[in-house]
Amino acid sequence: MKVFVTGGCGYIGSHTVVELLNHGDEVIVIDDFSNSKPDVLDKIQTICGKKPICYEGNVCDKVLLRSIFEKHDIDAAIDFAAFKAVGESVEQPLKYYQNNMNCLMTLCEIMQEYSCKNLVFSSSATVYGGVETMPIVEDSPLSTTNPYGTTKLWGEQVLQDLHHADPSWSIAILRYFNPIGAHVSGLIGESPNGIPNNIMPYICKVAMKELPQVNVFGNDYPTIDGTGVRDYIHVVDLAVGHIAALNAICNTQTIDVFNLGTGKGYSVLELIQTFAKVNNIDVPYTIVDRRPGDIAECYANTDKANRELHWKAEKGITEMCEDAYRFVKQSSSSTFGM
Ligand code: WQD
Repeated sequence: MKVFVTGGCGYIGSHTVVELLNHGDEVIVIDDFSNSKPDVLDKIQTICGKKPICYEGNVCDKVLLRSIFEKHDIDAAIDFAAFKAVGESVEQPLKYYQNNMNCLMTLCEIMQEYSCKNLVFSSSATVYGGVETMPIVEDSPLSTTNPYGTTKLWGEQVLQDLHHADPSWSIAILRYFNPIGAHVSGLIGESPNGIPNNIMPYICKVAMKELPQVNVFGNDYPTIDGTGVRDYIHVVDLAVGHIAALNAICNTQTIDVFNLGTGKGYSVLELIQTFAKVNNIDVPYTIVDRRPGDIAECYANTDKANRELHWKAEKGITEMCEDAYRFVKQSSSSTFGM
């Protein structure tokens, strides 16, 4: 298949491009490099022996998008391109609504013009709100507490309404839980700019002695050890889930939603202790106040994806920790030319 991947140089996008290329698909990428680097393309070449065609630009650029669809006979699209920092979305809501909503709607508009109606949409477990019962199933209550999550919830609604109006669309909506880890080569992984918001890149910076300690946001939650419990999924398992979704949904003229997680929750302390043990490294931490908006537990019921996408996460928490650390070590040594 010829697959168009928006945000294909980003953390999850690049890992998905690797899996698509390894699967024998032809890949065309668009990326504005607002949260990624062009050298990822060379890393993909090293991993796969080939790299995608890449256009630098924003998905909201209709002229650019039309030129890409005019030139390439695209069969399907996977849409990753979005700003995704929860805290930043609270401070800059217009930036998030403007970019995330317009990019999705522009993509769908141009796809429609070129009769390309197979789409995998990157959504998030953050759309689940006020869920008391774990593990979370796809028809659990939806509500959001930040603009980033709202753009994902609204994005899903746009796609549901689009399919209702034109049932010839085939759409898979994938709700990610907590993607962490990196490709086993150590060449691609998560390298957020500045101080990381998410736990794993923060742990990695502490392990690399770039930050003094991990601040654990609260240990008074009703969980196994009082710290937050999340469903961490290896980014390669997540990427493979996209291939499974693409193959399952293409040309079925249906729309459906799937949780992509492992179905198992780990606490913050369990993650820190596993990371320290498997990498034989000290990871100092201190307990601080809860982070506003955090919930105690969030982990997936993955039965639907297992059954209907014939996909199941295979990598465990130790592999996630090993692979995450290998990437930051290699990135650091390559940065300083060692
Ligand atoms: C995980 C756990 C924190 C940082 C977010 C987004 C979600 C998705 C994944 C995009 C929690 C604790 C964290 C730290 C800590 N992103 N923590 N100290 O909040 O579950 O989900 O990322 O789709 O939309 O909401 O992930 O990694 O920020 O936090 O103690 O410095 O680690 O309290 O329990 P989260 P996270």
